[in-house]
Amino acid sequence: MVRLISLAVLACLASVPARAQGVLNLYCSVQIEWCQAAATNFQRETGIRVNVTQRGSGETLAAIRAEAQNPRGDLWFGGTGDPHLAAAEENLTQAYESPHAGQLQPWALAQHRQSGGRAIGVYAGAVGFGFNSELLQRRGLAPPRSWADLVDPRYRGEIQVANPNSSGTAYVIIATLVQLMGEDRAFAYLRELHPNINAYARSGTGPIKAVARGETAISLSFVHDAVTEKNAGFPVGWTTPTEGTGFEIGSMSILRGARNLAQARRFYDWALTVEAQRLGFDIGKQLQTPSNRAAPLTEGAPDLTVIRLIDYDFARYGRSAERRRLIERWDREIGALPR
Ligand code: G6P
Repeated sequence: MVRLISLAVLACLASVPARAQGVLNLYCSVQIEWCQAAATNFQRETGIRVNVTQRGSGETLAAIRAEAQNPRGDLWFGGTGDPHLAAAEENLTQAYESPHAGQLQPWALAQHRQSGGRAIGVYAGAVGFGFNSELLQRRGLAPPRSWADLVDPRYRGEIQVANPNSSGTAYVIIATLVQLMGEDRAFAYLRELHPNINAYARSGTGPIKAVARGETAISLSFVHDAVTEKNAGFPVGWTTPTEGTGFEIGSMSILRGARNLAQARRFYDWALTVEAQRLGFDIGKQLQTPSNRAAPLTEGAPDLTVIRLIDYDFARYGRSAERRRLIERWDREIGALPR
């Protein structure tokens, strides 16, 4: 009996500190499986209960703006870097110096400097073309190798890309084209490309998932997302454009007015560790380049050092007004075109 009671007391005591660790409201813009794995592992290690809301990068920025007077999220994990920079500029996020920052790649710290300490790089990934090799073969089509190839009429209705209002991936693609061609030529190119596009998907990974399912032959995607589908057993391949391509610095920011600031800082520190950065690999949903210098690149993951990358101007294309202006121009000149 005594033993029973003491066990009950022990059980009670053990549950108190766990409950006292509190909660974290996590806004998450990577693939849902990675969000959930991060939440579960962090919760297991710290006793902090994590509520996950997964949305695209553009959608998350819109939610944070809408909630600015009454913030509901604490930390924004993942998603393309430009909207994290816009959020920093709009004073929607807050500065934090992590003791783990010294372990990171220079590009991850550049994002931190650029944002006035309000965002930091968690991973990097390059834009390219994903394709369904079986579908292309059946149609007698070769995979596209360049931006120039993509507008070829033989790809009519065969390509999918996301909508830049909701998707950070789609915005990186537009900003890349503007940097490669100049703005007016880039929009003329997007108009020429339009007949080849069968849908502007909501999420950045929507098009490559459609490629995997055989619903579209080609996608404009981050190439690591193509490898994820290939590893899941789908007949998916990828190429990067010969003219050069853009890339993202997938980022993390603590929201201004976070109600659970201590928990948000703890997650931020944890997310920069090698262990946390391997987690997405382990579940097969993260094939980006990790920002912790000691975290290895998974076998088969795209090696950014051999891809022809442009010198993406994060300062300019992460500026809030520039982002808004380019997306509005896309809405007027491309999104509104008849299908
Ligand atoms: C996927 C990619 C990430 C990227 C994110 C952006 O999860 O793996 O590297 O940051 O999409 O999502 P979005 O829906 O905003 O384009």
